[in-house]
Amino acid sequence: MLSPSSYPSRLKYVSLVVLVLQTTSLVLTMRYSRTLKEDGPRYLASSAVVSAEVLKILACTLFVFRENSFSVRAMKQLLKEEIVNKPVETLKLAIPAGIYTLQNNLLYVALSNLDAATYQITYQLKILTTALFSVSMLGKRLGLYQWLSLLFLMAGVTLVQWPTDSEGDSEQKILSAGSQFVGLMTVLMACVSSGFAGVYFEKILKETKQSLWIRNIELGLFGLVFGFLGMIVYDGQRVKQWGIFQGYNTITCAVVFLQAAGGLVIAMVIKYADNILKGFATSLSIILSALISYFLLQDFNPTRVFFLGAVLVIAATFLYGHERRPANGSTIAV
Ligand code: C5P
Repeated sequence: MLSPSSYPSRLKYVSLVVLVLQTTSLVLTMRYSRTLKEDGPRYLASSAVVSAEVLKILACTLFVFRENSFSVRAMKQLLKEEIVNKPVETLKLAIPAGIYTLQNNLLYVALSNLDAATYQITYQLKILTTALFSVSMLGKRLGLYQWLSLLFLMAGVTLVQWPTDSEGDSEQKILSAGSQFVGLMTVLMACVSSGFAGVYFEKILKETKQSLWIRNIELGLFGLVFGFLGMIVYDGQRVKQWGIFQGYNTITCAVVFLQAAGGLVIAMVIKYADNILKGFATSLSIILSALISYFLLQDFNPTRVFFLGAVLVIAATFLYGHERRPANGSTIAV
């Protein structure tokens, strides 16, 4: 039997393993769902983002319910005290929520244009943006290994994105180069947004002592409003014509479920593990999804330059975590 004091350490490893599995399966299912050729309209990414927010809010409400010994009255009272009676604190969550909504939509565009492995390795640049925002917004300091690893990271991502002389007719080449460019730009924007929103959320968490799940409900509520507005603005016509859930199938439901689960797992990793370990988990998931992409999906054919770039990115992540912790145990967010 595990003693109660060993729960956090057990939760730390459980949350990291779940994050590796969740990241890998989300990237692969999302990529598969965006490239699957089917009759009828394809599902709207903006609608999937909204559905994931609803699922996340429901799950977090359930966790708060459990924390309050399954008493509806106690839960309602707590939600009123923490969300309604503290409007300024609650409104602070609107900023990361808006940015995460944009980011969650951008990732669908990225995965419609890039293969799973290229996307995941390029998205590791969020380690760089997170570090830069941590330095500028939280006043954190980086050691020599960490700056070095950021250089390796940039070199690795450049190699992964290096154009290759693929075969095929010239029209196909122009099309795929355009697609690669759109994919790259959206991932880069997502890196900036991930870094900023992550550090901003960390700042809010550290400033107050509120329950993580209540913070996540607030984040989800704003995310739901922004996501819904985004869906109306960008896909309003199609929603009118075919409805919000057009093109949904089992794979779409899996994507929505995995995206919602991701939000919860990331919140747990921040609470029970730390952000450096989150970087390790993402690196492991890169290796896993590249292997699955290559052996099972066969939509990815790595070149030597790609392989070298991938090794550099993964090595950089480990080098980044190598830094000795200061006495107070605080670490830089990755
Ligand atoms: O790639 P990155 O780590 O920035 O991904 C963050 C993801 O986790 C986003 O989809 C965001 O909506 C979600 N998230 C969440 N709750 C948090 C923090 C992040 O749902 N507390």
